[in-house]
Amino acid sequence: MLLSQCTWPEVEAYLKTSKGIVMPIGSIEQHGPNGLMGTDAICAEAIARGVGEAASALVGPTIAVGMAVHHMAFPGSMTLKPSTLIAVIRDYVTALAAHGFERFLFVNGHGGNVATLRAAFYEIYAERRERHGDAAPDLRCHFVNWWENAAVAALSRDLFGSAEGSHATPSEVSVTQHLHPEAIKEAAMEPHVAPSGTFFDARDFRRRYPDGRIGSAPSLARPEHGARLMEAAVQAISVQYRTFVTAE
Ligand code: NI
Repeated sequence: MLLSQCTWPEVEAYLKTSKGIVMPIGSIEQHGPNGLMGTDAICAEAIARGVGEAASALVGPTIAVGMAVHHMAFPGSMTLKPSTLIAVIRDYVTALAAHGFERFLFVNGHGGNVATLRAAFYEIYAERRERHGDAAPDLRCHFVNWWENAAVAALSRDLFGSAEGSHATPSEVSVTQHLHPEAIKEAAMEPHVAPSGTFFDARDFRRRYPDGRIGSAPSLARPEHGARLMEAAVQAISVQYRTFVTAE
């Protein structure tokens, strides 16, 4: 169930049965020579929708642009500053909390959002404490990275081994190929597996990883792998959602 496709009486009825909501958050940024700019937003949104169906949960609007300042040396990449993204997350949660939502599970598609998600949750808790003290209504925010669960990790390892890497991974590219077969791209990549390591700012990122990949071989991506990875992610995160929503 998508919030954007519900009427207000439907949301009112839902809130009598559950206080939980699934919130997709992604990024619009370069994903190497064959990966789509929207990879992280596309994966997070589709997996969140799958979780919504599997767990009968409402799914909120996708926060499509994330914190990706380190990708800005590649054309098309977009970013919100951490402070802007904190404000966006806080306002999304605060708006929905005003109607009675209490448990927010963010399905995250982008590692670069992690620090900002954590900071945003503490910003929300601090604000509510300032305003209401111990009387603040119950509110819990949590996020999961869709690729960080035992089922998806095992499948990625089976399919791609150490060529999974950490950016523009064959797993995430496979999921987008499954969801958008009309947008599958072919590109020559040299070396087959990109170098791995760290980076500082956007210019340094491009200098170290000239085609945008880190440690990955996304030419191994296949739509059929994406279908399996997505199913594994939906199953695992549906269990995490149910536990999160029903926990004391
Ligand atoms: Ni990504």
